[in-house]
Amino acid sequence: MSNELKKQEIIDAYRFRHATKKFDPTKKISDEDFEFILEVGRLSPSSIGLEPWQFVVVQNEQLREKLKTVSWGAQGQLPTASHFVLILARTMKDTKYDSDYIKNHLKQVIKYPEEVIETVVNDKFKNFQEKDLLLLENERTLFDWASKQTYIALGNMMTAAAQIGIDSCPIEGFHYQSVHKILEEEGLLEDGHLDISVMVAFGYREAEPRPKTRKKREQVVKWIE
Ligand SMILES: Cc1cc2nc3c(=O)[nH]c(=O)nc-3n(C[C@H](O)[C@H](O)[C@H](O)COP(=O)(O)O)c2cc1C
Repeated sequence: MSNELKKQEIIDAYRFRHATKKFDPTKKISDEDFEFILEVGRLSPSSIGLEPWQFVVVQNEQLREKLKTVSWGAQGQLPTASHFVLILARTMKDTKYDSDYIKNHLKQVIKYPEEVIETVVNDKFKNFQEKDLLLLENERTLFDWASKQTYIALGNMMTAAAQIGIDSCPIEGFHYQSVHKILEEEGLLEDGHLDISVMVAFGYREAEPRPKTRKKREQVVKWIE
């Protein structure tokens, strides 16, 4: 396929994607297509390669009902989505520079030689988190950093879905503390190592959306030459 065609396909997907308020409840995404969407999430980039996320696919009706009571932004999506994903982010317990999670991740996933790990975390990562990004101010600053990474996966998954004709809706219209409580009761937060970051619903649209509205390019792009 030529680059021109590829570009057109990608732009078409961005035009096709819209925040779907309600899905056709009779249409299910195939296992193969949903695996593809999850794989795009898994392959997404993250700061210093930490992959500070977990994708929880909620197909259980009772849990969806519970979430609906505290998620004003997902009223139409929770009952109708073919697949509903909670994107969890790792908390300070796992994302502080010298956490066991980071050390294990460097060793087992990124395959750093064992002898360099202590220096990397206590020198490079400490400096980066403490001095460059000011992430160690409080638990929230570190959690929000992990949460930012999850939004990259979120965007990639929605775009990839759109490229194969699947609709989606990102969701942060919910009461965080209430969702936290529900997920804690369900035993999904790994003793405080994970917390809710954002949600995303996938499925097939029930109705056509209104035309897309966006600012003009010159309102959002500045060139310095
Ligand atoms: C991080 C994020 C959270 C969002 N939360 C919700 C939500 O809770 N419920 C909802 O219906 N739409 C939600 N939206 C959708 C936006 O309102 C929508 O993307 C925006 O109005 C632009 O419209 P479009 O996506 O259809 O082009 C969210 C979007 C983003 C990026």
